[in-house]
Amino acid sequence: MGQIVVLDQNMINMIAAGEVIERPASVVKELMENSIDAGATKITVSIEDGGRKLMSVSDNGYGMDAEDLAKAFEPHTTSKIKTSKDLHSISTLGFRGEALASIASVAQIKAVSRAKDSAGANCIEIDCGSKSSISPASADFGTTIQVRDLFYKLPARRKFLRTVNTEMEHITEQFKRIALAKKNLDMTLIHNNREVYRLSGKESFRRRIAELFSSEISENLIETESDEKGIHIFALLGTPNISKTNNKFQYVFLNGRFIRDKFISHAIKEAYRGILEPDRFPIAFLFIQMPYEDYDVNVHPTKIEVRFYNANLVHSQILGCLREKLLGTEFHTRAKLPIPAQAKHRLGTSHRSQTITDAMAEFFRRHKPIQTQQQTGSAIMDYYSRQHTADIQTTETQAYSPAQIGSLETKFLQIHDSYIVEQTDDGFIIIDQHALHERILYEKLSNRIRNNKLESQRLLIPESLEITDAEADAIKKNAELIDKLGIELVPFGPRIYAIQAFPTLLARAEAIDFVRDLIDLLTDKGVGLDPDRLLDEILNMAACKAAIKAGQRLSDSEIIQLLADRQHIECAGRCPHGRPTTIKFSLSDLEKQFKRT
Ligand SMILES: Nc1ncnc2c1ncn2[C@@H]1O[C@H](COP(=O)(O)OP(=O)(O)O)[C@@H](O)[C@H]1O
Ligand SMILES: [Mg+2]
Repeated sequence: MGQIVVLDQNMINMIAAGEVIERPASVVKELMENSIDAGATKITVSIEDGGRKLMSVSDNGYGMDAEDLAKAFEPHTTSKIKTSKDLHSISTLGFRGEALASIASVAQIKAVSRAKDSAGANCIEIDCGSKSSISPASADFGTTIQVRDLFYKLPARRKFLRTVNTEMEHITEQFKRIALAKKNLDMTLIHNNREVYRLSGKESFRRRIAELFSSEISENLIETESDEKGIHIFALLGTPNISKTNNKFQYVFLNGRFIRDKFISHAIKEAYRGILEPDRFPIAFLFIQMPYEDYDVNVHPTKIEVRFYNANLVHSQILGCLREKLLGTEFHTRAKLPIPAQAKHRLGTSHRSQTITDAMAEFFRRHKPIQTQQQTGSAIMDYYSRQHTADIQTTETQAYSPAQIGSLETKFLQIHDSYIVEQTDDGFIIIDQHALHERILYEKLSNRIRNNKLESQRLLIPESLEITDAEADAIKKNAELIDKLGIELVPFGPRIYAIQAFPTLLARAEAIDFVRDLIDLLTDKGVGLDPDRLLDEILNMAACKAAIKAGQRLSDSEIIQLLADRQHIECAGRCPHGRPTTIKFSLSDLEKQFKRT
């Protein structure tokens, strides 16, 4: 006798539920999405015990009449698509027609709905797949679906539910995603009769973000927008000071649907390259609009993944839009001031309130800051052109106009041979001399090399180094790149190469050390890594090696040169690895600390 049987419908639904309904949050997501597809402008979500006991979603959408209410919980029933053609341009959040049937097969349901033009409401109850008949009910326009005791007949699934707090966190996350995607919706989330969020569709989007996350996040977002090649992008990008240790705070919406996509995550990460440290993740809210025909949403049961037909275009548009904005923004790292000790312990001793700000103020009092003398424009120009021999960098010293330098007639001071303190209009800044110089060199190097090759100077005495066969291969393979870097490296004998010329911009670096590390990098990564990334790594390494070090005493002219360069490069606020170069202290911070206000 044959072993194969046809599964009954409830079994089929339960199997589908296994895919769609992972936990209470999945139910809440599906119900909220249905409310949105029904044109609701107001949604109320009420939860008990993290969704184990009850999940109820009410909306003021167009509702269902008695006939539709009976059908909605049948498998494969939907009002959202009709023919296979519709599958190519899905504008609704749902379309698979399996959510309600799946939920109803694994819980107790009560659904009440009243269609827009109908005189009364109807109600249906379902207990793990077994349905009551439709009965009249009294309710306002719209739909309320209550889901009780999820998985109560499936102890194995119920056992996998986590604590109330964990399940509630997942529900809250789903609620946030919808709240971000549909900013004009009035939305309320209630847990165990306590209001968690009440959002009005009339409030500003930043206000919504402040309520959902924090005002710190909301206040530290920069906005950008682009509309090219059929892709509209609107982004709110977190500044580096509010970065995170994971990418959970990256919210990407495609035509109002929350998605996760590895191309897009990569584009975001790339956009922040050099602005954030490599192990940090930016906060980002990204809203993409593009024709429904340009991607497939029917690739994942919960529709969190989509397939772009031209993923490279999506990647490059996002990267371009975000990168342009981020590179054009000056990020200041503000000093994080500790809460004054008195505020913490009203009767505590004041010694404990000695903070960085206090220490700096003290420093200013004791050391009379160096004041650059009043100089005429031409004297300054002269001074600048004479600086060719100064350490900071010979051929790269830039002649700034007197107007440009005007803003540099300022008070500055080097402390601990590592930091430069400069007075600004509204306070002072502390610069990490190594990090800033690294950024300056990196910018100069990359501008130069992308247009041309680096200028080099011949070494008086060539320096030689021993090379393995693999390294010799790497040198030969990358001969063009090495030449572009302004390095002349010639074979000198068996397994020996000589450095005959070295880039002027890197004069502070030891030629032999730098070339050794370069060869290591080319041998390790010369294959595999794409040429742009490889060059970027080399420039990073070069900037780091040739930059002024911490612990190095600088002359006034060197400091002036650094401060002048700072005003003329992109991304001066961050070193190429994404660490801050500058920390700002405002007068109002000082006043607060000294209790002047
Ligand atoms: N809140 C609601 N308001 C109005 N109609 C609804 C609502 N929820 C579900 N429906 C109807 O029930 C149908 C089935 O819902 P569902 O099982 O989630 O499938 P899908 O959303 O994929 O169509 C929907 O297509 C819609 O017509
Ligand atoms: Mg649905």
